[in-house]
Amino acid sequence: MSETPFTADLVLTGGTVVTGKTRYRADIAIKDGLIALLGKPETMPAAREIVDVSGKFLLPGAIDMHVHFREPGYTHKEDWRTGTAAAAMGGTTTVFEMPNTNPPTRSVVELRQKQEAARKAHVDFGLYGLLAEDNIDELTGLIEGGVNAFKCFMGNTFGNLPSPSTGAMLEGFEVIAPSGLRISLHAETASIMAWRQQRLMAAGRNDPLAHIAARPAIVAAEAVARAAELAEWTGARIHVLHISSEAELRPLADAKARGVEITGETCPCYLLLDTRDYARLGSVIRVNPPVREASDSEAIWNALRNGVIDMIATDHAPHTPEEKRKEIIWQADCGFPGVETQMPLMLNEVSRGRISLEHYVRISAENPAMAFGLWPAKGRIEPGAEADIAVVDMERTETIRADALHSRGKITPFEGVSVTGIPIHTLVRGRFVQRDRKLIEQTSGWGRQVTAIQRMPAPNPKHVDQTLAACLQGPVVASGASS
Ligand code: DOR
Ligand code: ZN
Repeated sequence: MSETPFTADLVLTGGTVVTGKTRYRADIAIKDGLIALLGKPETMPAAREIVDVSGKFLLPGAIDMHVHFREPGYTHKEDWRTGTAAAAMGGTTTVFEMPNTNPPTRSVVELRQKQEAARKAHVDFGLYGLLAEDNIDELTGLIEGGVNAFKCFMGNTFGNLPSPSTGAMLEGFEVIAPSGLRISLHAETASIMAWRQQRLMAAGRNDPLAHIAARPAIVAAEAVARAAELAEWTGARIHVLHISSEAELRPLADAKARGVEITGETCPCYLLLDTRDYARLGSVIRVNPPVREASDSEAIWNALRNGVIDMIATDHAPHTPEEKRKEIIWQADCGFPGVETQMPLMLNEVSRGRISLEHYVRISAENPAMAFGLWPAKGRIEPGAEADIAVVDMERTETIRADALHSRGKITPFEGVSVTGIPIHTLVRGRFVQRDRKLIEQTSGWGRQVTAIQRMPAPNPKHVDQTLAACLQGPVVASGASS
C-alpha cells in the first residue's frame, strides 16, 4: 500500500522525461493541473487514471511565441478554435498570438475583443498588444489591461498596419520598458522594402524570387541593429521574430554581448527551405521575411546550436490556397500554417542527428518560458510546474498533408514531407487536449490566458531622465547655471 497521502488525477507511467540538460526514466503523477510527483513506478500515488507511455518521451509542451489566429476579422483563414486545435495536435501547449487581426489589438477595447474570441482555445495563450505609429497613448492601457507582450511591425506585412517611425518606436519603448514586458519585432525596415518593391514592379519583375529582391537581408540586419540601439537606450526588452538571414546574426550577437535584453527566434521554414525550393513551390513559399540562401540556413542552424538564436517559433500564418496561389508574386498572401508541423519537423531533425532532444527542449520550451516570464510555472517537467506535456513517439513516421491539418489554411510548403518523431498525446495543465493523434473536441475553452508569473524586473535604462514623457514636463537637463 502506498503511504502517499493523495490520489493523483493521472499517472503517466513508463516514459522518459526530457529536460534541457538530460533525460531520465520517470513516472509522472499529476494533480489539479500540476505535476505533483516524479519518480519510480513504486513511488507513485493511487490515481484515477494510469496511462502507459512506455518507450515514449515526455517533453514540456512547446511554447510558440509567434502565431496568427486571425480572429477577429479574418476567420475564413483561421479562428481561435482551429488555430489552437492545430497547436494541440502539434504538441504545442502555449501560444502567443499576434495583433494583426481586424481590428488590430491596438487598445484595451480590442484586447477585450480578442480575449472574448480566445475563450474557445484548446491550449493556453498569451496576447500581444500592438506598438504602432498611432497608438502610443494606448500602451499604458494595454499594459494595465493585461497584454503579455508587444509586437512592433517595423515593416509592412499582412494587415498593412503602418510601421512606426523610429521616433514613435523610441517613445513606445520608453513607455513599455518599465513594465518589463518584451517587445517582439518584425524586424524588416519598411522604407527599404517599399523603395525596392516599387522599382522591381516598375521593371516588370513578378516572379517568386522578386520577393527576396525586394527584401534583401540588409532590410532585416538594419532593423535589428536599430531596434537594439533603442532597446539599449531605453532598457526595453526585445525579441527578434523569424530570423531569416546570416546578416541579422551579427547585430543580434553584438547586442547580446553589450548586455542588451534581446532574444531571437527562427522558424522551421528558414532552417529547412532555401532558394532552391522557389521553382518547385512558387508563390506558396512567399513569407515575410523571405526564405533565403542555403548559406543563410546553415548560419541559422549554427546560431541555434551556439545559443545566439534562443528559440524556435512558427509564425503560423494561415491563408487559403486561393490566396496563396498566384501568378504574380506580389498578389500572393505571405506566410503559411506552422503550429501543427513545427514539432514533427524539428523532431525529424533530431532523428537525423542535427540537434539533440535536450537541445530541442531548450529552444521549444525552456527558453521561450524564461524570456517571456512564464518560467518556472511553464516550460519544464518538474514538481510544482503546470502539467503541459507532449508525449512523443520518436519511432513514428507520418507524412505531412495540408488536407489533414487542423488549421483552416490547408496549404503548406512541407506538403508530402515524411517526418519521424510525432507528438502522440498533448496535455495542457493535466488534461488531454490531443490523445492518440485525435483532437479532444470538448477541450475547446480549456485554454486560458497566461499571466506573467514572474513579472520580470525592467532592465536598467540608460537614459530614463530623458524620456519624452519626462521632457514634456519641462527641461530635464541642467540649464548651465552654476551654484
Ligand atoms: O509572412 C508573414 N505573414 N509574415 C508576417 O510577419 C505576418 C504573417 C501574416 O500575418 O500573414
Ligand atoms: Zn508573424
